[in-house]
Amino acid sequence: MESVTVLLNALWLAVPLYTANAAPVLFGGGAPIDRGKTWRGARVLGDGKTWRGAAAGILTGMTTIFLLNTVYQQLLVEHTVLPVFPLTALVALPIGVICGDMGASFLKRRIGRQRGAPVPVLDQIDFLAGGLLLSIIAAPAWFFSSFTVPTLFLVAATPVIHRVANLTAYRLHLKDVPW
Ligand code: CTP
Ligand code: MG
Repeated sequence: MESVTVLLNALWLAVPLYTANAAPVLFGGGAPIDRGKTWRGARVLGDGKTWRGAAAGILTGMTTIFLLNTVYQQLLVEHTVLPVFPLTALVALPIGVICGDMGASFLKRRIGRQRGAPVPVLDQIDFLAGGLLLSIIAAPAWFFSSFTVPTLFLVAATPVIHRVANLTAYRLHLKDVPW
């Protein structure tokens, strides 16, 4: 694959991972998923993981993938070799993103970090790992034909972009903390 194609593929595949992860920050709030319950002296997930946030993330991720597929099929198909997302990936990838984010919160509460406390690296890769893992399980053939090693490497390197995005959201007062 040409390097430009690899780069475009990685960006294309990363877009829904990021929109699914960003939507809860914008639309989240309300009742926490763990219903305030604690386990071994700490909240199971914490007030930062809400039903509304999870639903917003999943719906936004699914909508993003639908739009990417539509744009590709309507406009780009003759010019590029971007991956089309099958229905299994459309469903699994955003759910995986939200589960990965929740899994990280679960781990953070177990090691005594309060809601919102930063855990570098974990905070940046939780949603990527979740989204990619559930995609492998739900759509293995698609996954391995779409994510070549260099593509996967580039997607895994996107936390640097994530960092810049969070810093921007903080500056715009959309987030309380710059991570
Ligand atoms: N959010 C939400 N529901 C989710 C995930 C996120 O409502 N399932 C919202 C919450 O308002 C949360 C914000 O998005 O505070 C930022 O998300 P995140 O950084 O993942 O949560 P934190 O508040 O930092 O909590 P944690 O320490 O558990 O990561
Ligand atoms: Mg956080």
